[in-house]
Amino acid sequence: EQLSLWGGRFQGGPAQALAALSVSTHFDWRLASDDIAGSKAHATVLHDVGLLDDAQFKGLVDGLEELERQVQSGQFRPSDSDEDVHTALERGLLEIVGPELGGRLRAGRSRNDQIATLIRRYLRRESRHICRLVLNLCEALLSQAHSAGTSIMPGRTHMQHAQPVLVAHQLAAHVWPLLRDLDRLRDWDKRASISAYGSGALAGNTLGLDPQKVANDLGFSDSVENSIDGTSSRDIVAEFSFIMAMIGVDLSRLCEEIVIWNTKEFDYVQLDDSFSTGSSIMPQKKNPDVAELARGKAGRMIGDLTGLLATLKGLPLAYNRDLQEDKEPVFDQIDTLDILLPAVTGMVATMKLNLPRMEQLAPQGFSLATDIAEWLVKRGVPFRDAHEISGACVQVCERQGIELSDLTDRQFKEISEYLEPEVRKVLTIQGSVAARDGRGGTAPARVAEQLDRARSVVEEF
Ligand code: ARG
Repeated sequence: EQLSLWGGRFQGGPAQALAALSVSTHFDWRLASDDIAGSKAHATVLHDVGLLDDAQFKGLVDGLEELERQVQSGQFRPSDSDEDVHTALERGLLEIVGPELGGRLRAGRSRNDQIATLIRRYLRRESRHICRLVLNLCEALLSQAHSAGTSIMPGRTHMQHAQPVLVAHQLAAHVWPLLRDLDRLRDWDKRASISAYGSGALAGNTLGLDPQKVANDLGFSDSVENSIDGTSSRDIVAEFSFIMAMIGVDLSRLCEEIVIWNTKEFDYVQLDDSFSTGSSIMPQKKNPDVAELARGKAGRMIGDLTGLLATLKGLPLAYNRDLQEDKEPVFDQIDTLDILLPAVTGMVATMKLNLPRMEQLAPQGFSLATDIAEWLVKRGVPFRDAHEISGACVQVCERQGIELSDLTDRQFKEISEYLEPEVRKVLTIQGSVAARDGRGGTAPARVAEQLDRARSVVEEF
């Protein structure tokens, strides 16, 4: 005989087609431990107000602990007739402690306040796990940055050679966005740390149960101010989903660079065999599949976020069953990052940068033209004129197929009387990076400080 949560008013069981649509145990079962923890906390406040005597309270807690063991060992599983994690666990508890005692636990709570609380508790725990994985990637990037020393590479804008930068500076530029994502998670946690228990179905409970005590028991800092909001809002889930998608986008941008760097034309990086794949037909191929999968999975994680937001946008207060759709998108993001981050970290940690090649390309493409202009500015020439003069140098070089440092003293003088031979000293990539020594700039001393700061931020998390 099928157990139902709402037997009283109904004459038959649900149609097969409804049950198939309604069921969520295949994805919400991962909340089982959180649900059992919620049940224990709920039993405590029922006991506090005298709705459970000491023996009943102990019987329920023992039963819930036994249920937790059975869930952990896999001995208890949801059955085909269980609608969701709550229904399944209620059945499990009744099987252990009997219907007379087990049937008392549901007083004063609803699946609506339960699920709103559980999803937050689960996401808070997972956020700490994702945070650790992101920190591992940051460490791999920082250690590559450290090994690159003061090597220089072409810095690009619009994919064109722009100004030389330190390789370490470029690598660290991928660390800061990831650290901001972790800061976002930390800030999000303040809002996620609010329990919805006590809200009941939507209006609160009549039994005098203490929501703050339940909140503290479950590791939250407080309970909701408004039971309608508590049961019907999912902005906390959506914000989490945004941060997951943002991490996906940040990984994708890093990986896009690695894909480009790994081409024969760039030849900046060699991926380790253990993080590359071959081709079934072209024996020579060594493909950056990890990086491409990261790029691809970012699209999927963005889809999870937009799907969730679309689900939420039209919902009137309070709980609507649409809200059951909040879970799969964030579960998918968590599962995706859980497998993606270790692979990207491994790829980054084991890749070999071709530093001589990067350094060789750094002065090409007239990337020192700005240095000429700024050298002129320091000698009192207005930047507008300096920009013109430096542009004229580029034109001459382009016509003759040479680089800026190939210009003779005479050619400089012909272009402008201000271009004295000393201009040559800024026409080296070392001189160029060393000159950019303001805070956040690419000068070796500034980059060394930057890496130290990044490392200490990583250690603080
Ligand atoms: N499984 C539902 C969810 O994930 C919770 C159950 C609430 N159902 C209901 N009919 N009030 O949102």
